[in-house]
Amino acid sequence: MTRRAVIAGTGSALPKRRMSNAELAERVDTSDEWIVERTGIRFRHIAGEGETTATLGADAARTALDAAGIAPNAVGLIVLATATPDQTFPSTATKVQTALGIDDCVAFDVQAVCSGFLYALSVAESMIRAGSADVALVIGAETFSRILDWEDRTTCVLFGDGAGAVVLKAEDSEDRGVLSVSLHADGRHNSLLYVDGGPSTTGTVGKLRMKGQEVFRHAVVNLATVLGEALDRAGLSVADVDWVVPHQANRRILEATARKLGLPPEKVVVTVDLHANTSAASVPLALDVAVRDGRIRRGDLLVLEAMGGGFTWGAAAVRY
Ligand code: COA
Repeated sequence: MTRRAVIAGTGSALPKRRMSNAELAERVDTSDEWIVERTGIRFRHIAGEGETTATLGADAARTALDAAGIAPNAVGLIVLATATPDQTFPSTATKVQTALGIDDCVAFDVQAVCSGFLYALSVAESMIRAGSADVALVIGAETFSRILDWEDRTTCVLFGDGAGAVVLKAEDSEDRGVLSVSLHADGRHNSLLYVDGGPSTTGTVGKLRMKGQEVFRHAVVNLATVLGEALDRAGLSVADVDWVVPHQANRRILEATARKLGLPPEKVVVTVDLHANTSAASVPLALDVAVRDGRIRRGDLLVLEAMGGGFTWGAAAVRY
Protein backbone atom coordinates (compact mmCIF):
# COMPACT_ATOMS: atom_id res chain seq x y z
CA MET A 1 0.00 0.00 0.00
CA THR A 2 1.16 3.51 -0.82
CA ARG A 3 0.10 6.76 0.79
CA ARG A 4 -1.73 8.62 -1.97
CA ALA A 5 -3.79 11.80 -2.47
CA VAL A 6 -7.34 10.76 -3.36
CA ILE A 7 -10.00 13.14 -4.72
CA ALA A 8 -12.63 13.15 -1.96
CA GLY A 9 -14.86 15.83 -3.51
CA THR A 10 -15.11 18.45 -6.26
CA GLY A 11 -16.80 21.84 -6.51
CA SER A 12 -17.07 24.87 -8.74
CA ALA A 13 -18.46 28.39 -8.87
CA LEU A 14 -19.33 30.83 -11.64
CA PRO A 15 -20.17 34.52 -11.58
CA LYS A 16 -23.88 35.27 -11.90
CA ARG A 17 -23.57 37.17 -15.16
CA ARG A 18 -23.39 35.09 -18.35
CA MET A 19 -22.30 36.86 -21.53
CA SER A 20 -23.17 35.53 -25.00
CA ASN A 21 -21.19 35.97 -28.22
CA ALA A 22 -23.96 38.26 -29.49
CA GLU A 23 -23.38 40.63 -26.54
CA LEU A 24 -19.66 40.68 -27.34
CA ALA A 25 -20.43 41.51 -30.96
CA GLU A 26 -22.00 44.74 -29.68
CA ARG A 27 -18.63 45.76 -28.15
CA VAL A 28 -16.07 44.61 -30.77
CA ASP A 29 -16.09 43.73 -34.47
CA THR A 30 -16.85 40.02 -34.16
CA SER A 31 -19.74 37.58 -34.62
CA ASP A 32 -21.25 34.54 -32.98
CA GLU A 33 -20.43 32.59 -36.15
CA TRP A 34 -16.70 33.49 -36.10
CA ILE A 35 -16.29 32.73 -32.39
CA VAL A 36 -18.14 29.39 -32.54
CA GLU A 37 -16.35 28.24 -35.68
CA ARG A 38 -12.82 29.17 -34.52
CA THR A 39 -13.12 28.32 -30.81
CA GLY A 40 -16.37 26.48 -29.96
CA ILE A 41 -17.14 29.16 -27.35
CA ARG A 42 -20.78 30.32 -26.98
CA PHE A 43 -20.88 31.81 -23.48
CA ARG A 44 -18.59 32.99 -20.70
CA HIS A 45 -19.34 34.21 -17.16
CA ILE A 46 -18.10 37.64 -16.13
CA ALA A 47 -17.50 38.65 -12.51
CA GLY A 48 -19.62 41.55 -11.28
CA GLU A 49 -19.36 43.83 -8.29
CA GLY A 50 -18.42 41.91 -5.15
CA GLU A 51 -17.34 38.84 -7.13
CA THR A 52 -13.57 38.29 -7.02
CA THR A 53 -11.10 35.47 -7.45
CA ALA A 54 -11.25 34.86 -3.68
CA THR A 55 -15.07 34.83 -3.44
CA LEU A 56 -15.34 32.45 -6.40
CA GLY A 57 -12.53 30.27 -5.02
CA ALA A 58 -14.18 30.12 -1.59
CA ASP A 59 -17.58 29.20 -3.12
CA ALA A 60 -15.97 26.40 -5.17
CA ALA A 61 -14.07 25.16 -2.10
CA ARG A 62 -17.24 25.10 0.05
CA THR A 63 -19.04 22.98 -2.56
CA ALA A 64 -16.06 20.60 -2.78
CA LEU A 65 -15.89 20.22 1.01
CA ASP A 66 -19.67 19.54 1.13
CA ALA A 67 -19.28 16.89 -1.59
CA ALA A 68 -16.43 15.29 0.39
CA GLY A 69 -18.34 15.50 3.69
CA ILE A 70 -15.31 17.15 5.27
CA ALA A 71 -15.45 20.08 7.71
CA PRO A 72 -13.38 23.19 6.80
CA ASN A 73 -11.29 22.91 9.97
CA ALA A 74 -10.01 19.48 8.88
CA VAL A 75 -8.18 21.19 5.99
CA GLY A 76 -4.43 21.37 6.62
CA LEU A 77 -3.33 22.85 3.30
CA ILE A 78 -4.76 25.23 0.70
CA VAL A 79 -2.96 25.60 -2.62
CA LEU A 80 -4.69 28.09 -4.89
CA ALA A 81 -3.70 28.57 -8.52
CA THR A 82 -4.38 31.97 -10.02
CA ALA A 83 -2.89 34.59 -12.31
CA THR A 84 -5.53 37.12 -11.25
CA PRO A 85 -5.21 37.39 -7.44
CA ASP A 86 -7.45 39.80 -5.53
CA GLN A 87 -4.32 41.73 -4.55
CA THR A 88 -0.59 41.36 -5.24
CA PHE A 89 -0.45 40.19 -1.63
CA PRO A 90 -1.70 38.71 0.67
CA SER A 91 -2.26 35.49 -1.21
CA THR A 92 -5.77 34.68 -2.39
CA ALA A 93 -5.37 31.32 -0.61
CA THR A 94 -5.32 33.11 2.77
CA LYS A 95 -8.48 35.04 1.80
CA VAL A 96 -10.21 31.75 1.00
CA GLN A 97 -8.95 30.35 4.31
CA THR A 98 -10.60 33.26 6.18
CA ALA A 99 -13.81 33.00 4.15
CA LEU A 100 -14.06 29.31 5.09
CA GLY A 101 -13.39 30.05 8.77
CA ILE A 102 -10.30 27.82 8.92
CA ASP A 103 -8.31 28.77 12.02
CA ASP A 104 -4.90 27.46 11.06
CA CYS A 105 -3.49 25.72 8.01
CA VAL A 106 -0.78 26.10 5.37
CA ALA A 107 -2.08 28.40 2.58
CA PHE A 108 -0.37 29.84 -0.49
CA ASP A 109 -0.89 30.66 -4.17
CA VAL A 110 0.89 29.18 -7.17
CA GLN A 111 1.12 30.89 -10.52
CA ALA A 112 1.51 28.96 -13.75
CA VAL A 113 -1.33 30.70 -15.63
CA CYS A 114 -3.56 28.13 -17.40
CA SER A 115 -1.44 25.21 -16.12
CA GLY A 116 -1.76 26.52 -12.57
CA PHE A 117 -4.17 23.85 -11.40
CA LEU A 118 -1.82 21.05 -12.52
CA TYR A 119 1.08 22.73 -10.71
CA ALA A 120 -1.07 23.22 -7.58
CA LEU A 121 -2.24 19.61 -7.70
CA SER A 122 1.36 18.43 -7.96
CA VAL A 123 2.47 20.50 -4.95
CA ALA A 124 -0.49 19.40 -2.82
CA GLU A 125 -0.23 15.72 -3.67
CA SER A 126 3.54 15.76 -3.01
CA MET A 127 2.91 17.33 0.42
CA ILE A 128 0.24 14.75 1.17
CA ARG A 129 2.51 11.87 0.14
CA ALA A 130 5.30 13.36 2.26
CA GLY A 131 3.00 13.44 5.29
CA SER A 132 2.88 17.27 5.55
CA ALA A 133 -0.92 17.30 5.23
CA ASP A 134 -3.81 14.84 5.44
CA VAL A 135 -6.50 16.97 3.77
CA ALA A 136 -5.79 19.60 1.12
CA LEU A 137 -7.90 22.00 -0.87
CA VAL A 138 -6.58 22.54 -4.39
CA ILE A 139 -8.29 25.47 -6.06
CA GLY A 140 -8.09 27.11 -9.48
CA ALA A 141 -9.79 30.52 -9.48
CA GLU A 142 -9.63 33.40 -11.95
CA THR A 143 -11.17 36.70 -12.99
CA PHE A 144 -9.50 37.12 -16.38
CA SER A 145 -12.23 39.58 -17.42
CA ARG A 146 -10.32 42.13 -15.31
CA ILE A 147 -7.08 41.79 -17.30
CA LEU A 148 -8.63 41.67 -20.77
CA ASP A 149 -8.34 44.46 -23.31
CA TRP A 150 -12.04 44.76 -24.14
CA GLU A 151 -11.17 46.55 -27.39
CA ASP A 152 -8.98 43.68 -28.69
CA ARG A 153 -11.25 41.20 -30.48
CA THR A 154 -8.43 38.68 -30.86
CA THR A 155 -8.33 38.06 -27.08
CA CYS A 156 -11.45 39.39 -25.32
CA VAL A 157 -13.75 36.81 -26.90
CA LEU A 158 -11.72 33.87 -25.58
CA PHE A 159 -11.77 34.16 -21.79
CA GLY A 160 -14.19 33.98 -18.86
CA ASP A 161 -14.23 33.93 -15.05
CA GLY A 162 -14.84 31.08 -12.60
CA ALA A 163 -13.39 28.69 -10.06
CA GLY A 164 -13.05 24.98 -9.43
CA ALA A 165 -11.78 23.04 -6.42
CA VAL A 166 -10.93 19.53 -5.33
CA VAL A 167 -10.47 18.14 -1.85
CA LEU A 168 -7.52 15.76 -1.66
CA LYS A 169 -7.39 13.28 1.20
CA ALA A 170 -4.55 10.98 2.25
CA GLU A 171 -5.42 7.32 1.81
CA ASP A 172 -3.41 4.11 1.73
CA SER A 173 -4.17 2.64 -1.67
CA GLU A 174 -2.54 0.69 -4.50
CA ASP A 175 -4.21 2.41 -7.39
CA ARG A 176 -6.63 5.16 -6.29
CA GLY A 177 -5.90 8.88 -6.30
CA VAL A 178 -3.22 10.89 -8.10
CA LEU A 179 -1.04 8.29 -9.83
CA SER A 180 1.41 10.55 -11.66
CA VAL A 181 2.04 14.17 -12.57
CA SER A 182 4.27 15.52 -15.31
CA LEU A 183 5.08 19.25 -15.47
CA HIS A 184 7.10 21.46 -17.82
CA ALA A 185 8.01 25.09 -18.42
CA ASP A 186 9.85 26.87 -21.23
CA GLY A 187 10.32 30.58 -20.60
CA ARG A 188 11.68 31.23 -24.10
CA HIS A 189 8.04 31.63 -25.13
CA ASN A 190 7.20 34.37 -22.60
CA SER A 191 6.38 36.82 -25.38
CA LEU A 192 3.66 34.73 -27.04
CA LEU A 193 1.21 34.99 -24.13
CA TYR A 194 1.71 37.55 -21.37
CA VAL A 195 0.31 40.51 -19.44
CA ASP A 196 1.88 43.88 -20.27
CA GLY A 197 2.09 45.09 -16.68
CA GLY A 198 3.09 44.03 -13.17
CA PRO A 199 4.16 45.41 -9.79
CA SER A 200 7.89 45.33 -10.56
CA THR A 201 7.79 46.70 -14.11
CA THR A 202 5.03 49.18 -14.93
CA GLY A 203 3.46 49.29 -11.48
CA THR A 204 0.11 48.61 -13.14
CA VAL A 205 -1.91 45.44 -13.49
CA GLY A 206 -1.66 45.36 -17.31
CA LYS A 207 -3.68 43.61 -20.00
CA LEU A 208 -3.42 40.17 -21.59
CA ARG A 209 -1.61 39.95 -24.96
CA MET A 210 -1.38 36.86 -27.12
CA LYS A 211 -0.14 35.60 -30.47
CA GLY A 212 -2.97 33.11 -30.81
CA GLN A 213 -1.85 31.11 -33.82
CA GLU A 214 1.63 30.42 -32.41
CA VAL A 215 0.17 29.42 -29.04
CA PHE A 216 -2.18 27.05 -30.85
CA ARG A 217 0.67 25.27 -32.66
CA HIS A 218 2.70 24.73 -29.47
CA ALA A 219 -0.37 23.67 -27.48
CA VAL A 220 -1.27 20.62 -29.56
CA VAL A 221 2.28 19.22 -29.60
CA ASN A 222 3.02 19.91 -25.91
CA LEU A 223 -0.32 18.59 -24.65
CA ALA A 224 -0.17 15.34 -26.61
CA THR A 225 3.42 14.74 -25.42
CA VAL A 226 2.81 15.48 -21.74
CA LEU A 227 -0.37 13.43 -21.64
CA GLY A 228 1.57 10.42 -22.93
CA GLU A 229 4.31 11.12 -20.37
CA ALA A 230 1.87 11.16 -17.41
CA LEU A 231 0.37 7.85 -18.57
CA ASP A 232 3.84 6.30 -19.01
CA ARG A 233 4.83 7.33 -15.49
CA ALA A 234 1.73 5.63 -14.13
CA GLY A 235 2.43 2.49 -16.20
CA LEU A 236 -0.76 3.06 -18.23
CA SER A 237 -1.63 3.64 -21.87
CA VAL A 238 -4.14 5.71 -23.84
CA ALA A 239 -6.42 2.65 -24.03
CA ASP A 240 -6.79 2.71 -20.19
CA VAL A 241 -8.18 6.28 -20.16
CA ASP A 242 -11.88 6.74 -19.34
CA TRP A 243 -11.92 10.55 -19.48
CA VAL A 244 -9.57 13.32 -20.51
CA VAL A 245 -10.31 16.49 -18.56
CA PRO A 246 -8.41 19.12 -20.52
CA HIS A 247 -7.80 22.81 -20.09
CA GLN A 248 -10.67 24.43 -21.98
CA ALA A 249 -9.03 26.97 -24.31
CA ASN A 250 -10.38 26.12 -27.72
CA ARG A 251 -12.47 23.22 -29.02
CA ARG A 252 -10.12 22.82 -32.00
CA ILE A 253 -7.12 22.32 -29.64
CA LEU A 254 -9.06 19.65 -27.72
CA GLU A 255 -10.00 17.83 -30.92
CA ALA A 256 -6.54 18.06 -32.47
CA THR A 257 -4.86 16.77 -29.28
CA ALA A 258 -7.27 13.83 -29.02
CA ARG A 259 -6.68 12.99 -32.72
CA LYS A 260 -2.91 13.08 -32.26
CA LEU A 261 -3.18 10.58 -29.40
CA GLY A 262 -5.75 8.35 -31.08
CA LEU A 263 -8.28 9.11 -28.32
CA PRO A 264 -12.00 8.97 -29.22
CA PRO A 265 -13.47 12.51 -28.96
CA GLU A 266 -16.36 11.24 -26.80
CA LYS A 267 -13.83 10.57 -24.00
CA VAL A 268 -12.93 14.27 -23.81
CA VAL A 269 -14.85 16.48 -21.36
CA VAL A 270 -15.75 19.72 -23.17
CA THR A 271 -17.12 22.76 -21.34
CA VAL A 272 -15.41 25.50 -23.36
CA ASP A 273 -18.75 26.23 -25.08
CA LEU A 274 -20.28 27.35 -21.76
CA HIS A 275 -17.35 28.83 -19.83
CA ALA A 276 -14.72 29.86 -22.43
CA ASN A 277 -11.12 29.82 -21.19
CA THR A 278 -11.08 30.30 -17.41
CA SER A 279 -7.31 29.73 -17.15
CA ALA A 280 -6.35 27.93 -13.91
CA ALA A 281 -10.02 27.34 -13.10
CA SER A 282 -10.84 25.46 -16.27
CA VAL A 283 -9.63 21.93 -15.41
CA PRO A 284 -11.28 21.68 -11.94
CA LEU A 285 -14.40 23.40 -13.31
CA ALA A 286 -14.72 20.87 -16.16
CA LEU A 287 -13.97 18.05 -13.71
CA ASP A 288 -16.74 19.16 -11.35
CA VAL A 289 -19.26 19.50 -14.21
CA ALA A 290 -18.53 15.96 -15.43
CA VAL A 291 -18.61 14.49 -11.89
CA ARG A 292 -21.95 16.17 -11.11
CA ASP A 293 -23.64 15.20 -14.40
CA GLY A 294 -22.64 11.56 -13.81
CA ARG A 295 -20.17 11.14 -16.68
CA ILE A 296 -17.19 10.61 -14.36
CA ARG A 297 -17.69 7.78 -11.86
CA ARG A 298 -15.66 6.36 -9.00
CA GLY A 299 -12.93 4.09 -10.35
CA ASP A 300 -12.60 5.92 -13.69
CA LEU A 301 -9.11 6.70 -14.94
CA LEU A 302 -8.81 10.43 -15.68
CA VAL A 303 -6.08 12.39 -17.37
CA LEU A 304 -6.05 16.09 -16.53
CA GLU A 305 -3.97 18.32 -18.82
CA ALA A 306 -3.26 22.00 -19.42
CA MET A 307 -0.96 24.44 -21.14
CA GLY A 308 -0.57 28.16 -20.55
CA GLY A 309 1.56 31.29 -20.56
CA GLY A 310 5.26 30.86 -19.89
CA PHE A 311 4.89 28.45 -21.58
CA THR A 312 3.96 26.02 -18.84
CA TRP A 313 2.25 22.71 -19.37
CA GLY A 314 1.42 19.54 -17.52
CA ALA A 315 -0.74 16.46 -17.13
CA ALA A 316 -1.81 14.15 -14.32
CA ALA A 317 -3.18 10.60 -14.30
CA VAL A 318 -5.77 10.18 -11.56
CA ARG A 319 -7.89 7.19 -10.55
CA TYR A 320 -11.08 8.94 -9.35
N1 COA B 1 -13.87 38.04 -34.57
C1 COA B 1 -13.74 38.13 -35.90
N2 COA B 1 -12.56 38.06 -36.54
C2 COA B 1 -11.46 37.89 -35.79
C3 COA B 1 -11.51 37.79 -34.38
C4 COA B 1 -12.77 37.87 -33.78
N3 COA B 1 -12.94 37.78 -32.47
N4 COA B 1 -10.26 37.62 -33.92
C5 COA B 1 -9.44 37.60 -34.99
N5 COA B 1 -10.16 37.78 -36.10
C6 COA B 1 -9.69 37.83 -37.49
C7 COA B 1 -8.23 38.17 -37.58
O1 COA B 1 -8.04 39.57 -37.52
C8 COA B 1 -7.86 37.59 -38.93
O2 COA B 1 -8.29 38.48 -39.93
P1 COA B 1 -7.38 38.71 -41.25
O3 COA B 1 -7.32 37.35 -41.91
O4 COA B 1 -8.16 39.73 -41.99
O5 COA B 1 -6.07 39.18 -40.74
C9 COA B 1 -8.75 36.35 -39.02
O6 COA B 1 -9.80 36.54 -38.06
C10 COA B 1 -8.03 35.06 -38.72
O7 COA B 1 -7.26 35.23 -37.54
P2 COA B 1 -6.34 34.10 -36.99
O8 COA B 1 -5.61 34.62 -35.79
O9 COA B 1 -5.56 33.51 -38.12
O10 COA B 1 -7.45 33.03 -36.55
P3 COA B 1 -7.23 31.61 -35.97
O11 COA B 1 -7.97 30.62 -36.79
O12 COA B 1 -5.80 31.32 -35.64
O13 COA B 1 -8.03 31.69 -34.58
C11 COA B 1 -7.60 31.93 -32.24
C12 COA B 1 -7.58 32.61 -33.60
C13 COA B 1 -7.09 32.92 -31.20
C14 COA B 1 -9.01 31.51 -31.91
C15 COA B 1 -6.69 30.68 -32.29
O14 COA B 1 -5.44 31.01 -32.84
C16 COA B 1 -6.47 30.08 -30.95
O15 COA B 1 -7.39 29.58 -30.33
N6 COA B 1 -5.22 30.07 -30.46
C17 COA B 1 -4.90 29.49 -29.19
C18 COA B 1 -5.20 30.50 -28.15
C19 COA B 1 -5.28 29.90 -26.82
O16 COA B 1 -5.90 28.89 -26.64
N7 COA B 1 -4.67 30.57 -25.86
C20 COA B 1 -4.73 30.21 -24.52
C21 COA B 1 -3.82 29.10 -24.22
S1 COA B 1 -3.82 28.93 -22.52
